[in-house]
Amino acid sequence: MRLLNLDHVAIAVRDLDAALAAYKERYLVDPVYREVVEQQGVEEAMIPVGGSFVQLLQPLGADTPVGKFLDRHGEGLHHVAYAVTDIEAALSHLKETGARLIDEQPRVGGRGARIAFVHPADLAGTLVELVELRP
Ligand code: CO
Repeated sequence: MRLLNLDHVAIAVRDLDAALAAYKERYLVDPVYREVVEQQGVEEAMIPVGGSFVQLLQPLGADTPVGKFLDRHGEGLHHVAYAVTDIEAALSHLKETGARLIDEQPRVGGRGARIAFVHPADLAGTLVELVELRP
């Protein structure tokens, strides 16, 4: 497994429109993607920064993973996502080294990318997402 890039840093927000307006005012940046990902219970926006993105996540409801995160922790850093070339190979490497996987198999995330999550209790209290982008 080789990590290609820091694909994105994800931040949980209560109000995506307000967060995007604030990012624009403070940092003069705009999103390039915005979409509802029903399977993850979020509406997300991707703001490009260099070769990476800031991903803003607004839950579709209180009873979603990000909704529960907001209840417990409030707004803030939710996960970091690394781009990989071969997500199956990355997952088997992680499994072999004893990682605590949330997703044993990749699923489809925003941008049509194949993604998988690694549990925050596995390493340094950080929820990690692997992303395999379509060529
Ligand atoms: Co993400």
